[in-house]
Amino acid sequence: MEVPSSFLVLSLLLSCFATTAYGVTFSSLQKTLVVTASPTQGEVLKSGDKQITVTWGFNRTFPSGTDSAYKTVKVKLCYAPISQKDRSWRKTVDEMKKDKTCQHKIVAKPYSASNNSVTWTIERDIPSGTYFVRVYAFNAQDEEVGFGQTTSHQKDTNLFVIQAITGRHMSLDITSICFSAFSIVALAGFFYMEKSKGKASQQN
Ligand SMILES: *[C@@H]1O[C@H](CO)[C@@H](O)[C@H](O)[C@H]1NC(C)=O
Ligand SMILES: *[C@@H]1O[C@H](CO)[C@@H](O)[C@H](O)[C@H]1NC(C)=O
Repeated sequence: MEVPSSFLVLSLLLSCFATTAYGVTFSSLQKTLVVTASPTQGEVLKSGDKQITVTWGFNRTFPSGTDSAYKTVKVKLCYAPISQKDRSWRKTVDEMKKDKTCQHKIVAKPYSASNNSVTWTIERDIPSGTYFVRVYAFNAQDEEVGFGQTTSHQKDTNLFVIQAITGRHMSLDITSICFSAFSIVALAGFFYMEKSKGKASQQN
């Protein structure tokens, strides 16, 4: 009598520990969403200017009800393997909480099986790189329960390139324009002062 109950408590504790320690893994998710995005394979888009349209919906090949726990979706911009190489801060990790593949949120919305679309202007702070789009479905506990993506499982098709026009360049340009304007004015002022000094000394 004593042994089974303590065994039960122990295994309960262990399973609690296991769930809190590991959480949701990407490999456990079913690819139940069909996702398409407007960029064509290899297209180069400039940030702060170009738009991306993403559409998604439930893949009806799966039995109806598969998505019954789906409550919200997050549409994300994700790094292709080529833009993750030698960058540990973009690393793909199977455990969702540690995964760094999809760092840029495009939009979060309530889940709907069809008629989903968003048009998004590529934000200026998106770094240059090669990307794809992934959509995650979440349940009421805010855990990932399904996904879909614009690329293949190997993440080697339908990739597009974002070229960042950094704000830094713009402000540098503005700074140098201001400096040039300032130096012209200063120079003109200096010459004017010299000239009037000269005139003043001639009059004496
Ligand atoms: C829908 O899911 C099935 C089964 O996984 C898959 O074979 C099919 O390619 C998917 N359809 C689309 C449009 O992705
Ligand atoms: C999707 O949108 C179209 C046009 O707005 C509408 O006619 C159609 O009924 C919608 N379908 C669903 C499943 O909501």
